[in-house]
Order: sequence, then C-alpha cells, then structure tokens
Amino acid sequence: MKPRKLVILGTGGTIAGQAALASDNIGYTAAQVGIEQLLATIPALAASGPVISEQVSQIDSKDMGFDVWAQLAARVHHFLADDDVHGIVITHGTDTLEETAFFLQSVCQPDKPVVLTCAMRPVTALAPDGPQNLMDAVAVARHPGACGVVAVCAGTVHSALDVQKVHPYKLDAFSSGDAGPIGYVEEGRLRLLRNWPVALAGKRDIAIENIASWPRVEIVMNYAGASALMVEALVGQGVRGLVVAGTGNGTVHEALQAGLLHAQAAGVRIVRSTRCVDGRVLPLPGNAMADSQGLSPVKARIALMLELVAQDARISTTGQA
Ligand code: SIN
Repeated sequence: MKPRKLVILGTGGTIAGQAALASDNIGYTAAQVGIEQLLATIPALAASGPVISEQVSQIDSKDMGFDVWAQLAARVHHFLADDDVHGIVITHGTDTLEETAFFLQSVCQPDKPVVLTCAMRPVTALAPDGPQNLMDAVAVARHPGACGVVAVCAGTVHSALDVQKVHPYKLDAFSSGDAGPIGYVEEGRLRLLRNWPVALAGKRDIAIENIASWPRVEIVMNYAGASALMVEALVGQGVRGLVVAGTGNGTVHEALQAGLLHAQAAGVRIVRSTRCVDGRVLPLPGNAMADSQGLSPVKARIALMLELVAQDARISTTGQA
C-alpha cells in the first residue's frame, strides 16, 4: 500500500530565523526562511515518506493573531479531510505555540495527528535544534494511532491541553506541568506514556471562517497592590470577558476582586485562573467567579472567546443564549 502523505505547514518562528553571526542565539530575526527552503536542509525528512509543504504565514509568533489562526484552522481542516493525508506538522514560534496548539485542538479536535514543532535556536546557529525537532515531529505524526494536537520540542511530546513554555532560553523550553508529557521521541521512535489529547466538549462546530470579529477577552493579573483600575478601563472599552491570573488558588486582591465582581454584575464574563505555573485552581464552594477548569490564563482566554463566539452564533440563529 502506498504510504499516505504528511503535510508540513510553515508559520514562521525561530525555527525559520536567521542571525548575522553563527554565535548569536538571541539577536536573530524570526521567520526568515521559507518552509520549502527549511525542509531542503533536512534530506532525511524526504526519506521518511511523501511530504507536501505550504507556507501559511511567516511571522514571529509574538505577533500571532486571529487572522493567522483562522487561515491555519482552514488549512488544517482542508488537509485533514483528505484521505491521502496521514497527519499534519506545523512549524511555529515557541512564544505562543501553546495558544495555537490549544486553539487548534479546540476548533479542529482532529482524529489525525496535528503536531506543532519549533526551535529555540535559529537556522544560522552553530547547533540549530530545529532540524531534530522537525524530524521528531514527523516521527510523531507518522506514529500509528496518533491523534489530536500535540507539540514536540527537545524530544518531548506534550498535549495541546497541558503544554506551556516555561523557559526563555533552554532548548527544552516546554513543560506539561503536573500532567507530564505524552511521550518521548528517541532515535525516531515514539515512546508513548499516556493518552493522546481528548476531545473538548462542543467546540468543533464553530465555523472559524465566519467569525467577523472576535469577542474581546483580556487577562488581568493579581499582584501586591493590585487595584480595579485595569478592569474599569477594560469595561469602559467594551470588553466581553476577563480572565484573572490570580495568585495561588486563584485568589485576588480585595480591590481587584471588587472591580471584577462589579464587571460581572454588568454582564462581563469573569474566569479565575492562577499565575502559578503548575497545578490548577480548585473550586471553592460559594466562590462568585467561575474557575478556569485547569486551564492556564492564556488558554482560559481562548476557551472563553470560543464560548462567546458559540453563544453569539446561537443567539443569531435561535434568538436565545
Ligand atoms: C517566535 O515565537 O516566533 C520567536 C521565538 C521562538 O520561536 O523561539
């Protein structure tokens, strides 16, 4: 039987970055090398089976936004529907990789593998990590039974639901926190430790391409001396949702809490998460603000935006929230 194709989508990032000096690992410009050119530097990749590539965007992922997400989701949907396609690999900057991974898992919930990969060193570095990460991502995408959105970096496979960038410089920059990684890639083989990402209730049907404007949801943080000022300013600007990155178990300074409760009473959706890197907010009986169901602040924001998009669609078709 003919092996099925793998699709590699390029979006930019350090994996496509270039610096003037090989010794410069931080003063580079991200998103300079096209996906075809990048793949051409890894001959072993072509030997692993048929691959087609496409450049979806060419950006530093700090600049990621809804337009690119919508294009990416459309290309992912398109290729996943092709019976000849076994899976998809996406090259991406590390900085917002966890957000794109969570977004794609939420809106695509693929039953084929969608593997995001990246690099912490540019193409021009003395020892770029991109080529090995790409080879590992391809190995994961070709693994029989692989499904859902995952991230591969430094030989480690993370679920879209748990992955978080935790280091600004080390090659092994990601963690899955308490959940632990899904597996490791060793010499081109996946050692699977636990299940692939699970489907998330009720988000698959959102028609991303029809979203004219995304509901505005912002993140505010709790810290010593926090006040209600930011919340008041955002409510004044018409924000529809706020995620609070609380301290510890999602606790919030009394002044900020007063602002959030006031906003909630005015119809703004409030979600309480934690600024702690590990663990999750545990619900407290009687707490007036919803908790983030284990999601980090940036992922809770995406979940809330998608919930508001779904709610708007329901209202426009049925007249009811
Ligand atoms: C980016 O996120 O696009 C730049 C940083 C990186 O990829 O490590």
